[in-house]
Amino acid sequence: MYVLVTGGIGYIGSHIVLELMKLDIKVIIIDNLSNSSIKVLDRIIIISNKIPLFFNIDINDENKLDWLFLNYKISTVIHLAGFKSVGDSVKNPINYYHNNIGGTITLLTVMKKYNVYDIIFSSSATVYGVTKLMPISEKCALNPINPYGKTKLYIENLLLDIFKSNIQWNVIILRYFNPVGAHKSGLIGDNPSLIPNNLMPYITQVAVKKLEKLFIYGKDYNTKDGTGIRDYIHVVDLAVGHVKALFYMQNKHICEIFNLGTGIGYSVLELVKTFEAVSGVKINFTFVDRRAGDLDIIYADSSLAREKLEFHPQFNLDDMCTDSWIFQKNNPDGYL
Ligand code: NAD
Ligand code: UFG
Repeated sequence: MYVLVTGGIGYIGSHIVLELMKLDIKVIIIDNLSNSSIKVLDRIIIISNKIPLFFNIDINDENKLDWLFLNYKISTVIHLAGFKSVGDSVKNPINYYHNNIGGTITLLTVMKKYNVYDIIFSSSATVYGVTKLMPISEKCALNPINPYGKTKLYIENLLLDIFKSNIQWNVIILRYFNPVGAHKSGLIGDNPSLIPNNLMPYITQVAVKKLEKLFIYGKDYNTKDGTGIRDYIHVVDLAVGHVKALFYMQNKHICEIFNLGTGIGYSVLELVKTFEAVSGVKINFTFVDRRAGDLDIIYADSSLAREKLEFHPQFNLDDMCTDSWIFQKNNPDGYL
């Protein structure tokens, strides 16, 4: 039996694939490479010394998915494939609804046809929207404020509904906080194709002088130093969280939701200072206006994942900055 990882060539998916292969779990990756490079597959093979099955399949392509499920016995799907840029989703909502929701519906349709009912879904803390309640627990109100977040909530609701319709389904929804860091080999990491939207890749690209300076969005938030606070989690810890979820769901028929964060909030300035300390590189920055839609503070109540999944993140902010830096330094121009 195989675990199918959709979007497994991407930033988070590639780290999950490595954690699964470390445990000799048989993996099939599907990815349409719309936001990733096939070079990542070579690097997965170098790091693991194993060759996972890979197919260039779009999750919207029902015929190819049908072929895949017919020919390979799949036990569980870890579903990451989708678009993830908040800003792009505001500009191109149809693409997001089509790819994220449409693709998931096609995937679930084929899973059902082949009696594959176990799914772990990549959701996001962005489903919580604006709230003052911190740390934020899985029970907090959901109110995403951008199309990307709305697609995640839509899929969460779809999964809750299919579970109600047939308890053969076995569903875990993981709400990620802010994944950063990279594999310790320095071979795979976050490699945005355009100018980064996210803080950490922006910082690392300033550090290698691909970008001139960091623009810090807002210095008058109601936080310790006036800059936004987030719950950064090392991508390898996040990947391990999926393996824990996979073991937890074995022989169950559940539908459960978990935050995956460390439960600790750091400000933008704290991240910049930590990065400078571990890399020895000065990061030029300037303060600019707040970014529309940004929250002042968001960090996870991670107690549920700790108790039920035995999820205990191992990496601290120094590790996150060090590993992000090593990856960027080794790959200043991405996967060439
Ligand atoms: P990523 O873009 O690096 O990985 C997603 C992968 O899915 C890419 O390799 C892309 O080519 C592939 N893909 C996209 N549409 C596809 C389709 N129709 N068919 C097949 N493959 C397709 O992004 P990531 O950071 O690794 O994120 C993975 C998942 O985690 C996404 O669902 C994202 O929404 C979610 N997530 C990410 C973050 C984050 O900050 N990185 C936070 C919360 C949730
Ligand atoms: N920031 C800057 N300058 C930048 C980029 C970011 O100052 O160039 C600040 C932001 O204002 C925020 C913090 O850095 O205070 C983190 O911003 P990110 O863009 O890295 O992350 P977000 O918390 O805004 O959002 C990310 C993903 C979402 C996901 C969410 C989950 O982009 O997709 O984490 O919590 F849903």
